[in-house]
Amino acid sequence: MNWQIAIDGPAGSGKSTIAQEVAKKLNFEHIDTGAMYRAVTLKALKLKVDLENEDDFKFLENTKIDFRKQKIYLDDIDVTKEIRTLDITNNVSLVSKYGYVRKKMVALQQFLVANKNVIMDGRDIGTVVLPNANLKIFLNANVEERAYRRMKERQEQNLETYDFETTVKEIIERDFKDSTRPISPLKKADDAIEIDSSNLSVENVVDEIISLVFERGYNMEKELKNENVEIQEEAQKEETQIEEEVVETAASTDENVEVEEETVEEEKAETAAKYKELQIVTGTVLEVISEQPESKQGNRTIKAKEERVLIALEDGQEGFLFKRDTANIKEDEDLIDLFCEGDKVEVAIKKIFPDGGKFIFSTVLLEKRKDLEKFGAELKRDTVFTAKVLKQIQVGLLMKYEEFSCLLPTSQAAVAESELGSLVGKEISVAPIRVDYGRIRIIVSQVLADRINARANKKAFLETLEVGQVFDGVVKNIEKYGAFVEISKDVEGLLHISEIDHTRVFKVEKVLNVGDPVKVKVIKLEKDHIGLSRKALIPNYWEEYTSDKAVDAIVKGTAVEINNSGIVMALTPEITGFLPKSEFSWDRDAKIEDSVKLGDEIEVKIIEIDATKKRIILSKKQLVDNPWASLEVKAGDIVDVKVTKILPEGFIVSVGKVEGYLPKSTIRSIDPNSVQLEQEIKVKVRVLDSEKNKLVVSMRDAEERIEREIFKSTMDLQDKMSNTFGDYLKQSKKK
Ligand code: DC
Repeated sequence: MNWQIAIDGPAGSGKSTIAQEVAKKLNFEHIDTGAMYRAVTLKALKLKVDLENEDDFKFLENTKIDFRKQKIYLDDIDVTKEIRTLDITNNVSLVSKYGYVRKKMVALQQFLVANKNVIMDGRDIGTVVLPNANLKIFLNANVEERAYRRMKERQEQNLETYDFETTVKEIIERDFKDSTRPISPLKKADDAIEIDSSNLSVENVVDEIISLVFERGYNMEKELKNENVEIQEEAQKEETQIEEEVVETAASTDENVEVEEETVEEEKAETAAKYKELQIVTGTVLEVISEQPESKQGNRTIKAKEERVLIALEDGQEGFLFKRDTANIKEDEDLIDLFCEGDKVEVAIKKIFPDGGKFIFSTVLLEKRKDLEKFGAELKRDTVFTAKVLKQIQVGLLMKYEEFSCLLPTSQAAVAESELGSLVGKEISVAPIRVDYGRIRIIVSQVLADRINARANKKAFLETLEVGQVFDGVVKNIEKYGAFVEISKDVEGLLHISEIDHTRVFKVEKVLNVGDPVKVKVIKLEKDHIGLSRKALIPNYWEEYTSDKAVDAIVKGTAVEINNSGIVMALTPEITGFLPKSEFSWDRDAKIEDSVKLGDEIEVKIIEIDATKKRIILSKKQLVDNPWASLEVKAGDIVDVKVTKILPEGFIVSVGKVEGYLPKSTIRSIDPNSVQLEQEIKVKVRVLDSEKNKLVVSMRDAEERIEREIFKSTMDLQDKMSNTFGDYLKQSKKK
């Protein structure tokens, strides 16, 4: 039975990338069904049919869609790139909702999987196309992540790309259309396994799927029985070449001469065609012909001939078995010691001569074949062995493992094709993927061996792994949400962006790049998921500093930056706080530069600690009492002030511990230009706002008020003096 893996999921969930990788690793065929619907859309657009009219899609009756070497062909033209344009993306949902289109595509998809191990991705694979798939995966990821991936993919392919928001909208729209259409909507099959890839790397997902494939019983034994199409095709191409290697030395010229001489004439090629080289056959010993020295017959020299066994097959065709091809014969033994006329013998055909009818037999090959059968029967899943590379041939490498010949097809090598030659003479680790009994050899894979080794290493490593362990890792991959760090060979953990540093990291690349060494601590272990932290190993300066401090604490800091908004103060070499200008002095006109310069150490009070933003706000003015709060004057009061500063348009004056402003325009009865520092002036408080620390006084207002009061008391006195005795009496009665 062939193996089928179905992967469904919404747009941008990574289906195609994952399916492609899994296919490569397992040697399965990958069928991207989304690409097929895209190809239909492309043809519809080219034919300018009415996309809204399902009947216009009858062109599919004469349309050819197929895949060749991971490329999609529409009517024999490679359209792999063309189907990824935005025009197609925008129209494909419309096209793929038609029952007629789907029927055609599903039939074609089901046809394409026949007799193959396949991984197929789309929207309805697990539910409609391959309802009996051996493994069904529903791959998902959050919309933002999918939009991000879509954009990246399109950018990498130099395709037109929408901005992030539009891409998110495009994806949401497509999700909606794909999952609400009446026919075959995007839906998770009941028996599908859901994988959320939002926070997983491609490798993580691929590994997960491959583990599931093995868990579901796809094992080496099955694989051995399943003929691998790709390898078969390759094997066919190099048939002639391989045969020379497997059969070791081809029959010598001597043998050719000999066989020619001995050939019973007129034997038909067709008769011989029923036999294949390396085939196992049974025959009867007709004669053991003894060695013949060179002899002369007239002018002709008859060459020396080795001892040989003449064997006849059941249909009467004959051939020879030479000592060098005979298994289990000792140096000092002759063929005559082992074979008797009339013996029934089983042999392998080592060589068939083209004109038919004559064979060279071998029991050495027969033994090898039997050994191989034993090897195949005992073969276990995840077997890996070391084989020596003998030679590079057109389709890969020929190798030797114990007595067995092995072929490593190019597609199964872990190095680039151009580097295959460098492996000749080396011992490399390979895993058998198929035993080719017909050719008496093992088809091996270096890719599979590497994966098995990696899995074994990983398993062993994971068994010893514990939360709290610290590793010197290397960044292998960077994603938007964090970095994948290799902590041991083939074992990667996720260093989430929030675990990179104590301060907030907005872009991973600002701190880490692929290849960077990074010390990490294991903070989470969940199945195969390893959660790592870098910040856990970096001293938490913030914690250290703030742990014993609260709002109102008085600390010392050094001014490291003075700007329009205030002072940045270094509280320790790693921690800074901010002293806003408004918190510098109760005097709102005070200038920072007048009293503090860079490098000065000053005492400040902490007035805010924001742990989320890692922010500390400081105050200098709050170290002293607010003189405005204790000011005992109020608006309207007449007070004496002292001039402390002379300005062009007025004077700064002090009232108790605060300072106010006396505009020149309110100076009366004295010459404003004669006012001196320290001079005392009687003023009236015009404005007093202790919230805003604002005090404005006026000399004129004070004088006018004093004058008014004098005038009033004079008038009162006059009134008193003009009272009658009767008025006096009335007043005393009221009292
Ligand atoms: O995976 P993708 O974006 O290349 O798919 C293109 C469109 O094809 C998508 O909008 C849904 C549709 N599709 C479908 O209806 N059924 C499938 N099996 C695969 C794809």
